[in-house]
Amino acid sequence: MKDNVSISGAIHTNRKHDSAIKHVTGRAEYCDDIPEPAGTLHAYLGVSDVAHAKIKGMDLSRVRASFGVIGVLTADDIPGVNDISPTGQNDEPVFPTEKIEFHGQPLFAVVAETRDAARRAAELAVMDYEVLPHALDPIAAQNAGYPHITAPLKLVRGEIAPAFENAANRIKGQITVGGQDHMYLEGHIAFAIPGEDDDLVVHCSTQHPSEAQHMVAHVMGIPSNAVTVNVRRMGGGFGGKESQMNLFCVVAALAAKKWNRAVKIRPDRDQDMTATGKRHDFVIDYDVAFDDDGRIQAVDGIFAARCGYSSDLSGPVTDRALFHADNAYFYPNVRLVSRPMKTNTVSNTAFRGFGGPQGVVAAERMIEEIAYATDQDPLDVRKVNFYGGKGRNLTPYHQEVNDSILERLIGELEDTSEYRARRKAILAHNAASPIIKKGIALTPVKFGISFTATWYNQAGALIHIYNDGSIHLNHGGTEMGQGLNTKVSQIVADAFQVDFERIKITKTTTEKVPNTSATAASSGTDLNGMAALNAAEQIKERLIDFAASNWNVPKEQVTFHPNEVHIGGECMSFNAFIKHAYLARVQLSAAGFYKTPDIHWDRAAGKGRPFYYYAYGAACSEVSVDTLTGEYRVERTDILHDVGRSLNPILDKGQVEGAFIQGMGWLTTEELWWDDAGRLRTHAPSTYKIPLASDRPRIFNVSLADWSENRELTIKRSKAVGEPPFMLGISVLEALSMAVASVADYRECPRLNTPATPECVLMAVERLRAEA
Ligand code: MTE
Ligand code: HPA
Ligand code: MOS
Repeated sequence: MKDNVSISGAIHTNRKHDSAIKHVTGRAEYCDDIPEPAGTLHAYLGVSDVAHAKIKGMDLSRVRASFGVIGVLTADDIPGVNDISPTGQNDEPVFPTEKIEFHGQPLFAVVAETRDAARRAAELAVMDYEVLPHALDPIAAQNAGYPHITAPLKLVRGEIAPAFENAANRIKGQITVGGQDHMYLEGHIAFAIPGEDDDLVVHCSTQHPSEAQHMVAHVMGIPSNAVTVNVRRMGGGFGGKESQMNLFCVVAALAAKKWNRAVKIRPDRDQDMTATGKRHDFVIDYDVAFDDDGRIQAVDGIFAARCGYSSDLSGPVTDRALFHADNAYFYPNVRLVSRPMKTNTVSNTAFRGFGGPQGVVAAERMIEEIAYATDQDPLDVRKVNFYGGKGRNLTPYHQEVNDSILERLIGELEDTSEYRARRKAILAHNAASPIIKKGIALTPVKFGISFTATWYNQAGALIHIYNDGSIHLNHGGTEMGQGLNTKVSQIVADAFQVDFERIKITKTTTEKVPNTSATAASSGTDLNGMAALNAAEQIKERLIDFAASNWNVPKEQVTFHPNEVHIGGECMSFNAFIKHAYLARVQLSAAGFYKTPDIHWDRAAGKGRPFYYYAYGAACSEVSVDTLTGEYRVERTDILHDVGRSLNPILDKGQVEGAFIQGMGWLTTEELWWDDAGRLRTHAPSTYKIPLASDRPRIFNVSLADWSENRELTIKRSKAVGEPPFMLGISVLEALSMAVASVADYRECPRLNTPATPECVLMAVERLRAEA
C-alpha cells in the first residue's frame, strides 16, 4: 500500500473537533438530552451498606410502597443469566443473591414515575444479613488468604539469581501507587426503549456498544439481534465506560421489558463513584541490581493490585502493568509477576493507560533509586539504560524494540527545556532557600499500542454515498471527546477528495457495524480509520471501473480532485459524477474491515509480539514546594510527544495536554480513601480533588515530534495518542521527589508513594529533616 498524498488538505492538518462549538454552547446532544417518550420511567439502584455479608433476607415492602414507585427489580426478575462479567468469568452478578461483596454494591433497582421518587425509595430497603470479615486492600487480602481474582502473569527473561549475586549494587523497595476515579463530566446513563417481540433499543454512554448489546441479550435471555445499542457521544469515558455501563444497560432493559415503557437510569455522582470501578491501585515490590554507572543488571518485581470483588478487566489490566514495568529501559535479567488480588471493594476497571502507568511508575522509581544511590542526575541514569545498542532491545515479554526514537526525542527536549542549566540553577536555589524548595525532572514514556487481547484488534465501517453526493459515515468506534469522528471523517474526505463538511458523522450503532471492540487501548483511529479507508476504497474502485468503461479511458485517467472527478480530458463535479454512477446502477455503499497485522501473544509462555508498535514521549517538569506546609505548584512543563505523522495536530495536542494533566492529578491530588468499614469516603468532587485549570503548569509548552513517522503501515503513518501522554505526569512526581530530597542534601531517594498529596509531601519533608 502506498501512502496517499493529500490533495484536498483533509489530513495532516489542523481541524477543530467536529462538535467543538456544540460542546461549548451546550448544543451537543448527550444521552440524557434525547427526548423521552410519554410514560418514561426512571430507575435507581439500591445498594449495600456493608462490605461483606451473607444475605439472609431483603425486605423491599417500604420501597414498593413509596410514593411514585411502579415496582422493583431483583435477581428474580432476570429471565436470562444473572451475570455481566465482561470476560466471561461468571463472577459479576447484576444483583447478588447470596453474598454482598463490597460497600455500595447494587442489590436491587427501584422503578418509579420520576427519578427523584426512585432515588428516595431506594433508601428504604431493610436488609437482613450476616456480616463477614472483609479485606479491602491487596495486602490485607493476601494476609487473609484471598484468592487471585484471575490468573496472574509471569514474565521472565535471562536469569536473575546469578545477576543479583554478582551485582555491585542492589536496592529493594516498595511503592504504593494509588487508584483514580474517572470523573467524566457525564456520568453513567442508559435509556431503554422496548419494541415489538423481543426488541429493545438502548441508548447509553458507553465505549463498547457491542458489549452492552451482547450483555443485554445475555441477561434478558434473547438473541443479540433483538438488541440495538446506540451512542452518539460520551461526555468522557477514560476507560470507565469500557465495561461499567453493562449494569446500567441491563437494568434499563430489564425494566423496559417488564413494564413495557421506556426506562432511564442515571445514578447521581456519589453513586456513580461508589458503585462503578476505578483505576487499580498497586503495591509494588521491586528489587534491582545495577553496576556503579547505574546500568541495570537485574529486576525482580511483584505487582499486587486491588482488583475488587470481581475480575472485570483486571486480568488484562495487571498484564499491561507488567508490559510497562520496563518503560523505556532494557533489563538484561528480569522476572515480573502480577498478583491480581480479590478485595471487598468495587471492581476496578480500565482507566487511561490500562495498568501501564502503574508499571511505568515502578520503572521510574527504580531509576530514581539508582540515581540517588550513585549520586547522578536521574536523566543520565535513564540514558545508560535506554533500549538500544547491541543485544539490548528485547523486552521482558520477548518483543523487540526496533522503533525507538527516544534518543532524539529526549535530546531535543533536553535542549528546548534547557534542562541541564535549569537543574543547575535549581540546585543553587535550593542551597540558598530554606523554605521554598524546587525540583525538576525529565521523564520518558514508551507505550505499547494494540489490545493485548489480540482478537480485539479489528474494526468495521460503513459508508454510503447518497445520490446527491452527500456521504454518510459510520464506524465501530465511539466518540468520547477525543476527536475520533473528526479524524475518521478526515480520512474519508481525503479518500474521495471532498470537503470535510460533506461527510455526515453519525451515532455509533450496533445495527450498522457488528461485533465491534471497545474504543480503547488508544486504537480508535488506528482501527476504525483503516476500516473506513477500506470501505472508501471499495467504493472508489467501483467508481473508477465505472468511469473507465463508461467514458472509455484507462483507469489511471480517472482521478479525484477537490470536489471534482477528472476522467480523461473531462472534468465534472463530484455530485454530477455520483449522479451518473447512480443512474448506471453502481453500488454506492460499502462495509469496510481492518485487522492489525503481525501481532501475536502467548500468555502462558509470556512471549510474543503483543504490540504493533510503540508511541514515545517525554516531559520535563519543574515544581516548587513550600516545605512548611507541603503545598506545591508546577512552575513549568515542557513536553515533546510522538504521534507519528499527525492526522490532526491540534486534536493530538489537546490529547497530550489533557492526558498530562490527568496523569499529574492521579499522582498528586486525587486520593481515594476507604474507611475501616469499607465505605469510600471520597465519593464526590467535594472530597476528591482533580486538577483545576489553576493547577496547570504556569508555563506549559507542548510540542509534537513533527519529524516522526510510524515505521509500520498505520493509517497515514500516524500513531495512537489517547493514553501514552498520560504517563508524562510522572515528571511532576519525580520533580516533587527532588524538591523533597533537597532537605536532606539529596542523600536518599524520598520514596514518595502516590498520590503525593501536599500532606504526604510535608510528612516526607519532616521525616527526611528529622533523619538529617
Ligand atoms: N479524551 C477525551 N476527551 N475523553 C476521553 O474519555 N479517553 C482516553 C483517550 N482520550 C478519553 C480521551 C482513553 S482511556 C482512550 S483508550 C482513548 O482516548 C480512546 O480513544 P481513541 O482510541 O480514539 O484515542
Ligand atoms: N487496553 C484497553 N482496553 C482493553 C485492553 C487493552 O489492552 N484489553 C482489553 N480491553
Ligand atoms: Mo482506555 S483505558 O483503553 O478506555
